[in-house]
Order: sequence, then structure tokens, then C-alpha cells
Amino acid sequence: MSHADNNAGTRRDFLYYATAGTGAVVTGAAVWPLVNQMNASADVKALSSIYVDISGVETGTQLTVKWRGKPVFIRRRTEEEIELGREVPLSDLVDTSAENANKPGAEATDENRTLDEAGEWLVMIGVCTHLGCVPIGNGSGDYHGWFCPCHGSHYDTAGRIRKGPAPRNLDIPVAQFTDETTIKLG
Ligand code: FES
Repeated sequence: MSHADNNAGTRRDFLYYATAGTGAVVTGAAVWPLVNQMNASADVKALSSIYVDISGVETGTQLTVKWRGKPVFIRRRTEEEIELGREVPLSDLVDTSAENANKPGAEATDENRTLDEAGEWLVMIGVCTHLGCVPIGNGSGDYHGWFCPCHGSHYDTAGRIRKGPAPRNLDIPVAQFTDETTIKLG
């Protein structure tokens, strides 16, 4: 019996596991049409929570999973990425809200954007806040984070909008660690 089978047996209410090997990978300038989000079917909405196995995510890489019909980026940041994110003063930011569902009303410091105190794990909805394209990651753009090629929005290593037409930082969904190698979304 697989790891996923074990857990599926104990969580029967619309939960499933996504792993580094099977997670849906989204690349390039894919568009995530708003109409798709609005027309999400009942069964997609019913997937209210998923458990993601992050044991295979190496430092400096990113896992993309699909959750509630949207891509979610789970990045394991390098020390350099953490430092770059933490040295930015709030006064340099376009959007000073953390946009973090786990910390309503918090400021957009690097610390308020990550899932862990050390700042290694960054979990974000992978949908550009301009018109819904999927940004390219792996150090892309002028701020070494993510770049949206549709209209040129640059996000930094904490997923905060720094340049271009996007009005807001990439959204952070409700998420938590359930053990050392598992993140629960929703
Ligand atoms: S959709 Fe990303 S910049 Fe327009």
C-alpha cells in the first residue's frame, strides 16, 4: 500500500495527496482565465484541502500543484533568495500587504510571506494578479523571483510585485505544515 493510500484511508472527505513526482507542473506563459475560476465545477470546489508531500523538493526548486482549480507554487528557497527578500524595505514595495490568508492584515515583510520562520518555504497561488497568467519562476525577472511574460510583471523572491502592471503581491493561500514533509493547503 502506498503512502497516499494509507492517508486516503484515514481522510475520506475530498482529500488527496500530491507528490513531487505527480504534481501538475505548469510552465511558460499559460493563462489562467478568470472565467475558468468563476466556472469551477462543484467537484473541483469540493477539493477543499489537499496534502502535499514536499520531501522531494530540493533547495532552489519549486513544486507546482493544482488546488481548487489553480496552480500553487511551493518553493524551497535558497539562502540567497531569503536574504534578497529580507533586505527589501516596505517603502520599496508596490503592495505593502502580505496578501497572506494565514496572516490577515499583516505587512508584506518577507517573514510574513513564508510558511516557516526560517523563510525557507514559500507557498503562493501561481496566478498573476494582473490578468491571470501563470508567472515563470526559478529566479526569473529583474528581482530574481517570478516573471509574468504576458504584460511584464516582475515579482521578487517573496512573490511580491516590484515592477509592471500587476497591482498586488501573489496571493498566499491557507496553508500549514502537518509534519516535516507535508503541507496542507486549505
Ligand atoms: S497577466 Fe501578468 S502581467 Fe498581465
